[in-house]
Amino acid sequence: MSAAAQLDATLLRLALRDALKAPSAHNVQPWRFTVRGASVELWADPTRRLPVVDPDDRELTISCGAALGFLQISLLRYGYEPHVELLLDGARLARISLGPPHVPTDRTKELAAAIDRCHANRGPFATEPVPIPVLVELRDTAEAEHAFLTVVGDRLHRERLAALIAEADRIQWHDPAFRREASPSLLHRTFDRGDGIAARDREIAEHAPALAVLSTMHDQPFDWLMAGQALARVLLTNTRHGLSASFLNQAIEVPSIRGYVRDLLGLAQPQLVLRIGRALQEAHDAPCRPLEDVLF
Ligand SMILES: Cc1cc2nc3c(=O)[nH]c(=O)nc-3n(C[C@H](O)[C@H](O)[C@H](O)COP(=O)(O)O)c2cc1C
Repeated sequence: MSAAAQLDATLLRLALRDALKAPSAHNVQPWRFTVRGASVELWADPTRRLPVVDPDDRELTISCGAALGFLQISLLRYGYEPHVELLLDGARLARISLGPPHVPTDRTKELAAAIDRCHANRGPFATEPVPIPVLVELRDTAEAEHAFLTVVGDRLHRERLAALIAEADRIQWHDPAFRREASPSLLHRTFDRGDGIAARDREIAEHAPALAVLSTMHDQPFDWLMAGQALARVLLTNTRHGLSASFLNQAIEVPSIRGYVRDLLGLAQPQLVLRIGRALQEAHDAPCRPLEDVLF
């Protein structure tokens, strides 16, 4: 291997380590990669499916899209313009190759630096509202990736969405199959704690400094991959501003409730619900799979 090819392979591995830090539904990290010379293919890992909560692999594909987003930002940081081809050929989702050298902008460097600090934070948030210019930047960031971020500002809409989140919690947690799939704890698997979780999440959603829904025009694997890439950029931009986010996605996971969210907010295809604000406590680091486990 020439020195240049060796450098490319080393940079790709460094960038892949960043991709592994992407958020994923229930932290299943459902991605795999194959490296061939200076290009890498992103695959969905079917062994990591969640058939009860995510029967169509919608969230699985969004998670892979988020890993793709982290990978691209990392490659930019290392001085390469990534060239991305969406393949969507079964589990084979995309091919990323190293494009021309590129001088990273300060913004790119800051986004990449945010990768290590970007964690879902389920703890309490300060009550102060999220500054409007930040919300506008997050919205523009999503749109640049062919997705939409709608901030639920209207009080009645927010209360209604909070009630839908609570209803989705009750539906999910009343279902023993959901409990078995979603919860590592024997206690949660055995007992239906739906009402308690619903009350807590309703409160969290109603009092979130900002509550936002990420949506797409259509609801196909291509759209899910784009939603994931948008999510990656939105979360890193948010982190760059010293803010945190957590997910209240149950309202999208339950099909009947997703329909109500669509109608309530007039969105084509809602994909994710995010709470955004300034966290009062640091988030716990979620365990990340080692690179060796996801290369094949
Ligand atoms: C598509 C998707 C759906 C998610 N849904 C939820 C959710 O409904 N509730 C939740 O608490 N976290 C949700 N998360 C966040 C993950 O649990 C979190 O990203 C994962 O545990 C890894 O932790 P980290 O983001 O701190 O690295 C979701 C993440 C993704 C990408």
